[in-house]
Amino acid sequence: MNKVTIPFIQSLKGQRKFAMLTAYDAPFARLVDESGVEMILVGDSLGMVMLGYNGTSPVTMDEMVHHAKAVGRTAKRCLLVGDMPFMSYQADPIEAVHNAGRLIKEAGMDCVKLEGTSKQAPTARAIVDAGIAVIGHIGLTPQTAASLGGINVIGGQNYDTAKRILNDALAMQDAGCWCVLMEAVPADLAAYITSQLHVPTIGIGAGIGCDGQVLVSHEMFGMFPGFGLPFGKRYAEAGNLILAGMKQYNSDVLGGQFPGADNSFPIDEALMRRLKEQA
Ligand code: KIV
Repeated sequence: MNKVTIPFIQSLKGQRKFAMLTAYDAPFARLVDESGVEMILVGDSLGMVMLGYNGTSPVTMDEMVHHAKAVGRTAKRCLLVGDMPFMSYQADPIEAVHNAGRLIKEAGMDCVKLEGTSKQAPTARAIVDAGIAVIGHIGLTPQTAASLGGINVIGGQNYDTAKRILNDALAMQDAGCWCVLMEAVPADLAAYITSQLHVPTIGIGAGIGCDGQVLVSHEMFGMFPGFGLPFGKRYAEAGNLILAGMKQYNSDVLGGQFPGADNSFPIDEALMRRLKEQA
């Protein structure tokens, strides 16, 4: 079991595809690590799928570090990516470097991801210059989705928007990002951008032409209703399975079928008799 590294993922460009999945806790980190999937993203999607927020923007740096630590302690093989939450990097590049450093030092992530356009490229550069590898997340950027007009496909509206997405990708690459993630970008545009970059691309809702793909685990296993765009694919209905198990447990407790002899601990009969006689 070799640890997946950034140079290894970079060497896959043009050779073969790779996959990334989200994980936010130890049980999922262990499963992804065993699955063959090569990268784990501790995404700020944890705000919705784990913490019950109605978006990613309320997620704090401390919440990210808390969840990333659980993944960092558990996964031994996957390359680990920690998401920079909203307002952990937008206001000040120095604060951005400190916060990126927390995901590396405290949580054991291998690199960080930040959302933005070419405007965030100088911040990405500051983090890279501090010795921290960065993935630039462009296209639909959920932290600022409201200012982009909601959860929409980005870049396909006209020539200018398509050109802007291409420029964002090039700016992230020029800033030293080792990888560019594209969310909700039309497939042909994402494929073209992939062909123009020397760093790998990862897509979510960005078609087959990206070098790698990412999905949100809790959505793909039916444990979260979804984000409103048809990004994902349901690979299992784990949510329904768990719900059925919970209903069965409830009815077993109410009906006296649980716990049974197999779930209880015996005691010597004579000892019990003596206890009752003397009580
Ligand atoms: O937070 C997240 O899970 C993400 C993916 C949607 C790429 O950023």
